[in-house]
Amino acid sequence: MLGVRSVAWSTLPLASILAAALAACGGGSTSGVGSDPDGGADASATDDGGGEGGGGGTVCTSGKTWTRGTIGSEIMRPGDTCITCHKTANGAPEFLIAGTVYPTRHEPLLCNGLTAITVTITDAKGAQTVLKSNSVGNFACGPVARSGFPACNPTFPVSARVDAPGGKTASMIDAQMTGDCNTCHTEAGLNNAPGRISAQ
Ligand code: HEC
Ligand code: HEC
Repeated sequence: MLGVRSVAWSTLPLASILAAALAACGGGSTSGVGSDPDGGADASATDDGGGEGGGGGTVCTSGKTWTRGTIGSEIMRPGDTCITCHKTANGAPEFLIAGTVYPTRHEPLLCNGLTAITVTITDAKGAQTVLKSNSVGNFACGPVARSGFPACNPTFPVSARVDAPGGKTASMIDAQMTGDCNTCHTEAGLNNAPGRISAQ
C-alpha cells in the first residue's frame, strides 16, 4: 500500500509538468488559428439563409404557406428575396422594389403575410411610390407593370413606411441601396433589421 502510494505521488509532478508544457504550446496556437475561420463560417451561413430555415419558435400567423417552389406567380414565396432570385432565374420579371408585409415581426419563410397594407417608398429625390400588399402580403414594382404590380423607377437609396388599417404605422429611417426588402427583413432580421416588415 505505502509502496504503491509513493510511486503514484512521485509520477504526478512529472505528468503535471508535461501537461502544463503541452497546454502552453497548444493554447497559444489554437486561439490564433481558431478565431478567423470561425468568424467567416458563421457570417456566410447566416447570409445564405441558414438562420431562416432553423428559426423555429415563431408563428406563421396566417397559417398558410407557399408550397409550389419557384412556379412564377405574384403570390409566390412570401418572405423570400424576390429580386435576388429573379436576377438569375429564367423568365422571372425584373423588380426594383419587392418584399412582404406581415402581421408580426417574426414569421417564417414562405408564410403568407398581410393583405391590403400600404407600403410607401420614398426615393433619394423625395419621389414617392405607393404600393399595396396583395393577398399573401407581397408587394413589388419594376420597370414595367406586371402581374398586378405597378411600374416604378426609384432613385436609390430609398426609405420606406408601412401603414396598416387602424392607424398603425412603422417607418424605416435608414435609406437602403437595395429594394430587395426581405434580404434584411428575414424571420430573425439581418443587418440590424428588426425582423419582418410589419406595422406592429
Ligand atoms: C427562389 C427563386 C424565386 C424567388 C425567391 C421569387 N421568385 Fe418569382 N419567379 C421565379 C421564377 C423562376 C419565375 C419565372 C418562372 C415562371 O414564371 O414559372 C418567377 C416569376 C415571377 C412572377 C411572374 C409570374 C407571371 O405571371 O408570369 C412574379 C409576379 C413573381 N415571380 C413574383 C415574385 C415575388 C413578389 C417574390 C418575392 C416575394 C418572388 N417572385 C420570389 C423565382 C423566384
Ligand atoms: C440592407 C438592409 C435593409 C433593407 C434592404 C431594407 N431594410 Fe427596412 N430596415 C432595416 C433596418 C436596419 C431597420 C431598422 C432601422 C431603421 O428604421 O432604419 C429597418 C426598418 C424598417 C421598417 C420599420 C420597422 C419597424 O418595425 O419599426 C420598415 C417599415 C421597413 N424597414 C421597410 C422596408 C422596406 C419596405 C424595404 C424595401 C424597400 C426595406 N425595409 C429594406 C434594414 C433594411
